[in-house]
Amino acid sequence: KKAHRFYNEPLLDFAVPSVRANMTKALAEVKATFPIQVPLMINNKEVRSEKIFDRVNPSNESQVVGEIHMANIDQAEQAMQAAQTAYKTWKNVSAEKRAELVDKLADIMTRDRYKLIATQVFEVGKPWNEADGDIGEAIDFCRYYARHMRELQKPLRAGFTPGEVSQYIYKSRGVTAVIAPWNFPLAILAGMVTAAAVTGNTVVMKPAEQSSVVAWGLMKMIQEAGFPAGVINFLPGFGEEVGEYIVNHKFTTTIAFTGSKAVGLHILNRASYVQPGQSHVKRCIIEMGGKNAVIIDNDADLDEAVDGVLYSAFGFSGQKCSAASRVIVLDEVYDRFVDRLVEAAKSIDILPADNPKAYMGPVVDKEAYDRILGMIADAEKSHKLLFKASVPAGGFFAPPTIFGDVPGDSKLAQQEVFGPVVAVIRAKNLDQALEIANSTEYALTGGLFSRSPANIARVKNEFEVGNLYVNRGITGAMVDRHPFGGYKMSGVGSKTGGPDYLKQYMEPVAVTENT
Ligand code: SER
Repeated sequence: KKAHRFYNEPLLDFAVPSVRANMTKALAEVKATFPIQVPLMINNKEVRSEKIFDRVNPSNESQVVGEIHMANIDQAEQAMQAAQTAYKTWKNVSAEKRAELVDKLADIMTRDRYKLIATQVFEVGKPWNEADGDIGEAIDFCRYYARHMRELQKPLRAGFTPGEVSQYIYKSRGVTAVIAPWNFPLAILAGMVTAAAVTGNTVVMKPAEQSSVVAWGLMKMIQEAGFPAGVINFLPGFGEEVGEYIVNHKFTTTIAFTGSKAVGLHILNRASYVQPGQSHVKRCIIEMGGKNAVIIDNDADLDEAVDGVLYSAFGFSGQKCSAASRVIVLDEVYDRFVDRLVEAAKSIDILPADNPKAYMGPVVDKEAYDRILGMIADAEKSHKLLFKASVPAGGFFAPPTIFGDVPGDSKLAQQEVFGPVVAVIRAKNLDQALEIANSTEYALTGGLFSRSPANIARVKNEFEVGNLYVNRGITGAMVDRHPFGGYKMSGVGSKTGGPDYLKQYMEPVAVTENT
C-alpha cells in the first residue's frame, strides 16, 4: 500500500468573516480568564511555588496575562526524579502507541486552535497570522514526528552475509531536558518535546519565562492526550536557576535547546562536565541565532524583493532567528531598491497585536525593548538612518528601523539584534555580495532575489547557510517542505521537521544473530 504524503496543516484565512468572528470571540474569552494561573506539573500533578512571576501583555503593559509559579531547585529535582522513574516503563511502550498519543495531541491543538492563537497574541504580542502560523507548525511537528517514528521503529537489515541476520535498531536514551524560547512559543516547545517523547524518552520541559502561559496550555493538552504520569513534566522557572539545574543533572541524557548563542554555548560547556552517578554522555541539540542576509541582484524583481525583505525583517518585529537583518544590494539597483523599501516600510501598521490590522506588534518585553532601542541609538551615531517609524504608546513597541550604506564588517552588520532593525549594505558585484554574506559567524537562513540562472546556481553553491531561499522571503519554514536549522555558530544538531531530526534523540544499536 502506498503511504499518503505528509501535508501541512492549512493556515486560517482571517479575511473570511466567520474566521475573523471566531478569532474575535476567542480573544474575548481568553482575556476574560486573566490572570491565568500557571503551576508546575510533575507526575501529572499540579504543583505550586511561592515565587510568582507576573507576565504582562507586551502590547499593553498594564494587563497581567499570567501568574507564573517559578520552580525552585527542590521542585526541579522532583521533576527529574519523576522523569527518571517514568522512563523505566515509557521506554517499553510501543512506538505505535507513542505516535498515537502525539497524533492525539495534534488533534487537540486543531480543536483548540483559536484559543491557542489568542493566548499567544496576548502573551508574546504576535499578530493573528503569525500566531496562527505557530499553531500550524506545532500541529505539523506532531504529525510529522509521529509519522516518522512509525518508520524508524522498523529495524533495518544491515548487510546480506549468509548465515547471519544483522539489524540496525534505534533506541531511546533517557531523560531529555527541553529548554525552549518564547518566539515560537508553542511550535518550538512542542517540536522538541514531542520529538523526545515519541522516540521513547521522558522529558522535563522548561519554557521561556515570557511564554509560560502558552507552554502551560501545551502541558494541559499533553495531559488530555493521555501521556502517562511523569513522561512529560512541566517546570516553569528562571533559566539561571532551574534551567541550569536540569542541564547539570546526572539523569539528563539529552538536552534540546533553542535560544541565544550565549546560553547555547554555556549549555554545551556545562553538559561536558560529568556528574557523579551520571550514566550517559550528554548529547546537545542546540539551535541558536542568525544574522541573516538577503542578496538583491541587479536583475531582481524589485517588487517581489521589497515585499520579501519587508516581511522577513519586520514580521513578528524581527524576533525570529530566521529574520532578515542584512540586505546586501548590488550597486546598480541600490538606490531604486532602497527608495522602494523605505516607502514600503512607511506603510507598515504597528498596532497592539490583538488588532487584526497589525502588520507588526510589540517586542516581547521591556528588557528586549530597552536593548533594541539602545542598539538603534548606538547605530544612529555612526550609520546613515534611512527610516525609523513612529510607534504607539502603552506597550513595548520598537520602531522598524532601516540603516543604509552600512559597512559589512560593522557591529550593526555583524551582531544579532533580534528586533526590527535592518542594515542595508552596498556591494559592487556578486563576488563582493557573497563575501559580505558569508562574513558573519552565523549560518542560519539566507536569501537571493535574482533572475539570472547562473547567479542563482552560484549563490546556491557558495552562500553558507542552513536554509537558503531564492526569490522569496527567508522566514516561515514549513515542516517537511523546509527542514530548518543552521550551522557555524547558529547551531549544532540537525534540522527540525526533517528526516534526521528524530534520530538525534535516539541511539542506534546493531544486533547480529548467527543463524
Ligand atoms: N522556523 C522559523 C522560521 O523559519 C524560525 O524559527 O521562521
